[in-house]
Amino acid sequence: MPTSTSPDTKTGAAAPHPTTRLPMAQPKPTATTSSAAPQGTGTLAVHAGEARQKVGDSITDPIFCASTYTFTDTQSIIDFIEQRQPREEYGRYSNPGERVAEQKLAALEGAESSVLFASGMAAFVGVLMAKLNQGDEVVFFDECYRRSREFCIKHLARFGVETKTVRTGDYDAMEAAITPRTRMLISESPTNPHQSCIDLDRYAEIGRRNGVETMIDATLATPYNLRPIDAGIDYVLHSCTKYLGGHNDLLAGSVAGSFEALESVRNLRGIMGAINQPQTVYLLLRGLKTFELRMQRHNENGLAVARYLEAHPRIEKVYYPGLESHRDHEHATRYMRGFGGLVTFLVKDADWRGTADVVDAAQLGRIAPSLGGVETLIEQPLVMSYYECTPEERESFGIPDNMIRLSCGIEDAADLIADLEQALRA
Ligand SMILES: Cc1ncc(COP(=O)(O)O)c(C=O)c1O
Repeated sequence: MPTSTSPDTKTGAAAPHPTTRLPMAQPKPTATTSSAAPQGTGTLAVHAGEARQKVGDSITDPIFCASTYTFTDTQSIIDFIEQRQPREEYGRYSNPGERVAEQKLAALEGAESSVLFASGMAAFVGVLMAKLNQGDEVVFFDECYRRSREFCIKHLARFGVETKTVRTGDYDAMEAAITPRTRMLISESPTNPHQSCIDLDRYAEIGRRNGVETMIDATLATPYNLRPIDAGIDYVLHSCTKYLGGHNDLLAGSVAGSFEALESVRNLRGIMGAINQPQTVYLLLRGLKTFELRMQRHNENGLAVARYLEAHPRIEKVYYPGLESHRDHEHATRYMRGFGGLVTFLVKDADWRGTADVVDAAQLGRIAPSLGGVETLIEQPLVMSYYECTPEERESFGIPDNMIRLSCGIEDAADLIADLEQALRA
């Protein structure tokens, strides 16, 4: 029955003052089985967020190609606005597949809620634009995906938000940079491309003690390998373009956190329109079904390739958190279940051209940006992402000319190693 704020549509009473019009909050995830025991990643990736019986009795979630959703009558619109009847309204706010994907991602993350965006960068920009105001500050660990840093330093500044960067892993410097204006601490873990791993307990504790929210971009780890929410992190960001989609065939991003913290993020997304098309969400849901199996293989291949490269006479250094030689190996083994498929390495005594020759000689790895898909990708950061930077800027970002970034896919490790062997001999 309508509440006292609802109009009496039969008597012609004055229209009510409308309540929240923007996207309805995500409903709490419903259990997909009667089991009360916590379910494993593989089970959640297949079933979480999905109705047991779906439209048309289909085992897969259908793709609803709809920009808008119809109401039977005026009262059903009012019931929707007053949150008595969860459903869709308009395609910019949500679509049915997207709700399933959000609940699945939240379940994998161990979070109350998640919001899906059209790309990882749309998620990053969406969270910061929803949470920050003129005069606020953020503190950023400096190793990161370069567009995230660019957004903070170049674009947040235009709105009067200051970004302070401190050396990754320097927790004292991070705490010292906090002022009464600081609203958020931002880091990746592992970082791209150096794979530094954050001491999540310490990072979360600095945030809590200073009343500042914390964000971890865990794209390189995925919720299979790392669960920052368990350590008390407020926002966990993913480029779902990478391992979560997993097939190099879609762009998507997500942020997980509490219902309350994400409400303003969801509302802003409804205004930005940075939502995924239903077809893309279908691909993401399909990719997620095999998430655990793929991650196991990425982890195995990454470790095997990293060990091989570390022992190779032409390799100067390997950045892989699963190696004992990695600076943050202790944090990695403490927080991570596996170390992923990304291996960054330096070719010994090679200039930029000698390094490019190794990339060009690879037969199995395809030359492309991105990571986390089933196909192995190889790239030289100097050329692929940092070409327009000055040598001084590259040095400050820790990108030497002889660096290669290899995203191991799910091929056979022996074949990946054989390919590297011939590429390094060439
Ligand atoms: C760690 C990290 N975060 C965010 C992004 C941005 O994701 P997207 O390309 O989906 O916008 C990337 C992209 O490479 C990334 O590596």
